[in-house]
Amino acid sequence: MRRLENKVVLITGAASGMGRATALLFAQEGGKILATDVNRERLGSLEKEIRKAGGEVTALIADMSKEADIEMMIAAAVKQYGTLDILVNNAGVMDNFAPVADLDDKTWDRVMNINVTGPMKAMRLALKIMLEKDSGIIINIASIGGLHGGRAGAAYTASKHALVGLTKNTGYMYGKTGIRCNAIAPGGVATNISEGIDMEHLPVIVNERIMPGMALNPRFGSSEEIAKAALFLATDESAFINGTVLVADGGWSAY
Ligand SMILES: NC(=O)c1ccc[n+]([C@@H]2O[C@H](COP(=O)([O-])OP(=O)(O)OC[C@H]3O[C@@H](n4cnc5c(N)ncnc54)[C@H](O)[C@@H]3O)[C@@H](O)[C@H]2O)c1
Repeated sequence: MRRLENKVVLITGAASGMGRATALLFAQEGGKILATDVNRERLGSLEKEIRKAGGEVTALIADMSKEADIEMMIAAAVKQYGTLDILVNNAGVMDNFAPVADLDDKTWDRVMNINVTGPMKAMRLALKIMLEKDSGIIINIASIGGLHGGRAGAAYTASKHALVGLTKNTGYMYGKTGIRCNAIAPGGVATNISEGIDMEHLPVIVNERIMPGMALNPRFGSSEEIAKAALFLATDESAFINGTVLVADGGWSAY
């Protein structure tokens, strides 16, 4: 028996990196996948790959910074597959490593909207469905930047700390129901997340304050390694794990 047979799974940011690996693994395990993203081309390639492997998938363009898109994607899960069993809030964007004094409002608003407000709105809608049937799993992809101060800029760090808080509160508040909510805090994972950041020309303060810590990272992880952690949190193998953060960073933050 596959571990997610007939489970309806919504994965945001599914077109690339960890979201893509999670969609592929969950489909292989029998899940019915609703894959959302803003990147049409990459989403199309994921859709093809899942179908080629015999999996079930519906791909939708949905921007996590737009409430109407979030409402549309949750409604689509119900329309297409009848319910929602697992929500993976994976979509996320980096900031430009700016500390507060250099932070502009546009970056702050974009990062907070996509990394925290969008996931909260998706959870709010998903919970209505899950509470009705007293069953459901929410997995939020946070970051070790949500547990420590020196892994990214102020906006990203604040957004992921907020996502961790949202995860803990949700896990605790619904702890007497059949719903569980956990986060994964990946360390450095080789994905497309740095596209658009000029890593060669970061401000001096970043090189002075953040880069020394990078040298302590034992290795970069793969998206597939994070997908396996998500699968653990999505099944009854993690039945007693709720409202917490699973760090998957190869030991980086153990220093
Ligand atoms: N890569 C890392 O080292 C790392 C470490 C810790 C946490 N994370 C987190 O993991 C998650 C996945 O990131 P990744 O590394 O796989 O990056 P990625 O860039 O490869 O994938 C992220 C996906 O999210 C999509 N996306 C961006 N904005 C969106 C929006 N507004 N609405 C919907 N989708 C949107 C992108 O198009 C992309 O397909 C993110 O939340 C990220 O913050 C990444």
